[in-house]
Parts: sequence; C-alpha cells; structure tokens
Amino acid sequence: MIVGNWKMNTTVESAVELASAVKRGVSEDIASDVVICPPYVSLVSVSEAVRGSRIAVGAQNMHSETNGAFTGEISAEMLAQICRFVILGHSERRTYLSESDEFVNAKVLAAKVAGITPILCVGESLADRQSGRAVDVVTSQLDANLNGIDRNANIAVAYEPVWAIGTGESASPDVAQEMMARLRLALADLLGDRATDIPLLYGGSVNLSNIASYMAEKDIDGALVGSASLDADTFCQLIALTSSSGR
Ligand code: 13P
Repeated sequence: MIVGNWKMNTTVESAVELASAVKRGVSEDIASDVVICPPYVSLVSVSEAVRGSRIAVGAQNMHSETNGAFTGEISAEMLAQICRFVILGHSERRTYLSESDEFVNAKVLAAKVAGITPILCVGESLADRQSGRAVDVVTSQLDANLNGIDRNANIAVAYEPVWAIGTGESASPDVAQEMMARLRLALADLLGDRATDIPLLYGGSVNLSNIASYMAEKDIDGALVGSASLDADTFCQLIALTSSSGR
C-alpha cells in the first residue's frame, strides 16, 4: 500500500492536474493499493479525476462527531460519500493543533461507523528516541488510539517518527522494522489473527533512494509519503517500486 499525503499543498486546479498525472502514470496491473490524500477542498474534484483507475482517495483529517455546532469541521459521514480513507492522528495535528490520544481514538471509532478506513499515524519525538522510550511511546499511542476498536475494523497503521518527517533524515530500515514488529504484536493483542493483514506503512522522508529498503523489511507493507508525493513522476516511480516488492 502506498499513500500520498499532500498536506496543505495544491489548489483545486493543481490538485486535479497532479491526480490526473498520477492516474496517467500508474499502470493498470500494479499490485499495491494506491491512495492520494489532497486537501478537503479538492476531494470531490480529485475523486472525479481518478474515477475508473486503481487510485483511491483519502482525506487528511475528520472530526469525531457526526454533525452539529463544530464550525469548520468535517465529519466521517460527509467524507464517506467522497472517499474511502482518512489519515488520523498525524503528528503535525498532534503537535500544532494539540490533538490528544482520546480525540484520535474517538475519530478512529467514528470512521468505522461511517465505513471509512483510517490510516492511523503514530510516532515518537526525537527526545523520546534519544531517551530510549520510543517503543513504549509508540505502542502506548497505538493502544490509546485503538481503544475499543471492533476486531473486524479495517485500518492501516503508519509509523512516522516525528524526527524523520520533512527533515530528509529517514529512520534506518532496521529501526523502522524493529518498531513495526512491536506494532504487529500490539495489534495482535487488539485484533487477534487479523493483525497479520493490517497494512503497516513507514513514513518520514521516503524517497526514490530509500523506499525499496523499507519494502524489503518483513513487517513493512507500504509507505506514507509526504513531499515526494507532490511530484507525479516521482510518486509513480515510488508506486512501481512498492508494487514490485511483491507484498
Ligand atoms: P515527508 O515524506 O515529507 O517526510 O512527510 C512524511 C509525512 O508526514 C507523511 O504523512
């Protein structure tokens, strides 16, 4: 699985251009699930632009309530008519918008009710890693964010170390694999046998030079790509590399 998180980039016009270019560049027989996540305002146009292709569309966030007096917010029900996926708990939202584990958990549960698949992001800060707490921090985030989850729920989990996002300093494949193995175990406690089917994605400065080394790791099933997903040629090559890993 490969997901492009466009973050707060593109206008409606340039989003449609980018989505159309990705659609043209992706071969029909790719083995991976491909998801692009434009800003809210472009979701409808981008969904139309990729209709009939292997590319699915996701939102970058949503609110946990279904409707009501939450000015500026978008609910899972609203998204369900437009897209199949939603990124939840991204570290940029946790850091800049003070999203708590409880709020992320409420969103995960609301996504299930609406039939949208969350791409749940977890990851430790540089200080957490330097003090040897990375595994504890990340597995506690996962437990808190998935509290009360239905054992049949569809979900993907992205491990994105905060220190690797947008910095060019990616986690080594060994470090990423070690965390993924711990996440897989934690998922087994929550979801039983289904844990083996949950896509685990690595995110943080993924590019053309390093994606194959992540995909070669046993517990890494794909990538959540930020800046490298904003260039259609690069993203299409990343899709091909993910797909050819045979996962
Ligand atoms: P970069 O690939 O730009 O480091 O961003 C990663 C990310 O945050 C994806 O959600």
